[in-house]
Amino acid sequence: MHKFSIRVFGCQMNSYDGDRLRTAMMHQKWQEVPDGEADVVILVTCSIREKAEQKVASEIGRYDAVYKKKKSPAVVLVGCMAQRIGREMAKKFSCVRLVSGPRHLGLVPQAVTEISAETPPRFFMDDDPRALLDLDVVPTARTNPFKAYVTITYGCDRFCSYCIVPYVRGRLQSRAAADILKETRTLIDGGVKEITLLGQNVDAYGKDLNNGYGFASLLRDVANQPGLTRLRFATSHPKDFDEDILAVMRERADICRAINLPVQAGSDRILREMNRGYTSGQYLALVDRIREALPDVSLTTDLIVGFPGETEEDFRASYELLQEVKFDIVHTAAYSPREGTRAAMMEGQIDNRVKAARLNEINALQAQVARSANEGYVGAEFEILADGPAPRGEGKIQGRTMTDKVVIIPGSEEDFGRLIPVRIVRASHWSLEGERI
Ligand code: SAH
Ligand code: SF4
Ligand code: F3S
Repeated sequence: MHKFSIRVFGCQMNSYDGDRLRTAMMHQKWQEVPDGEADVVILVTCSIREKAEQKVASEIGRYDAVYKKKKSPAVVLVGCMAQRIGREMAKKFSCVRLVSGPRHLGLVPQAVTEISAETPPRFFMDDDPRALLDLDVVPTARTNPFKAYVTITYGCDRFCSYCIVPYVRGRLQSRAAADILKETRTLIDGGVKEITLLGQNVDAYGKDLNNGYGFASLLRDVANQPGLTRLRFATSHPKDFDEDILAVMRERADICRAINLPVQAGSDRILREMNRGYTSGQYLALVDRIREALPDVSLTTDLIVGFPGETEEDFRASYELLQEVKFDIVHTAAYSPREGTRAAMMEGQIDNRVKAARLNEINALQAQVARSANEGYVGAEFEILADGPAPRGEGKIQGRTMTDKVVIIPGSEEDFGRLIPVRIVRASHWSLEGERI
């Protein structure tokens, strides 16, 4: 039994965990294969919305049908959904042989080698939200050789009323700066050009350590490591994003001019019910300060429609906020009740049809905003970091600008990992096409 497959769902933190698990499995001489040939399928899962969990549950059902006949593949369930409903899944599906919460990944690689159809399934749950037995592995076996993620904080302490993350990822815990810097050094030495520092709220980095070393300090220290071309980070929280971070970004041209600053809603009443800790006025003032300090910055956001009690007027406030700020990208979602969160018990849950209509309206607005912004780039010149084949089209590759815009240009594999100067020749809603200068 030496063949595994790994499938990653959910956010970038899961991609990082998936890359580290893959690396750890390879260190113990297991071979990665397509899931149809695997003895063990590792699923790195997400619980953010009901749909995310349903998708994985139906995949497990599919593996289970095969497992019942062949006693293979065994399913290893890790990540947020494993923490939330892993026990249930193991009861329902006999293929689930190992379940681990996000804070016990360090135990997984060894336990995978001990999986057997004869012994009961094993569980490493994060029952204590502060416990941490992490994998001590640098993700060298990545899906992308030039780009790497590095998680800098575990968990989240903000408890937004709709969000499951604090329940499944536990309390905020910052990684020691020395460990992070050692990892980024190894990655850069291994050929990585672009690093993205990850956390549910990167701006909270260090707040639990109380040693005066916060996110701005970490950002400066990583940027100062020789050999790194670009440094990104996600996600920022409007309440914690501060002047020190802006100052470091201004100092260092290699820190990307792209900030994901989730607003979630435009109505102050809804923001209060969400427990976000800011008003729309404070959010807009922050946007002004950021744009003043970094005029070429790209701003993206996340927005939820159909939060409990959201009236037509509340929804209009979100709509108008998007019209006013004109974000580069808006990740929109219809509110999905998550069991155990405060919002799931609130009165005034919104009908699914209303949510869908509001989602459509917001997406149509953003398509317009994105299109006219992109059209404004035609003729402009950028340097892109080429990082892979374009999703469609022979002989085309894609790369990203410093502001995280995707640009498609003619090219080949040899270009991957290189900085290429381009001129934009065409624009659509979601991407830009360029030519080499
Ligand atoms: N830490 C980040 C985002 C984490 S989750 C922040 O504070 O913004 C990613 C996104 O999923 C959120 O920004 C939110 O827009 C969405 N999301 C979270 N819980 C949700 C829920 N219950 N229903 C719908 N969308 C949700
Ligand atoms: Fe969830 Fe809020 Fe934490 Fe983001 S800040 S992960 S939305 S609780
Ligand atoms: Fe999903 Fe967990 Fe990330 S719920 S969005 S995988 S932190």
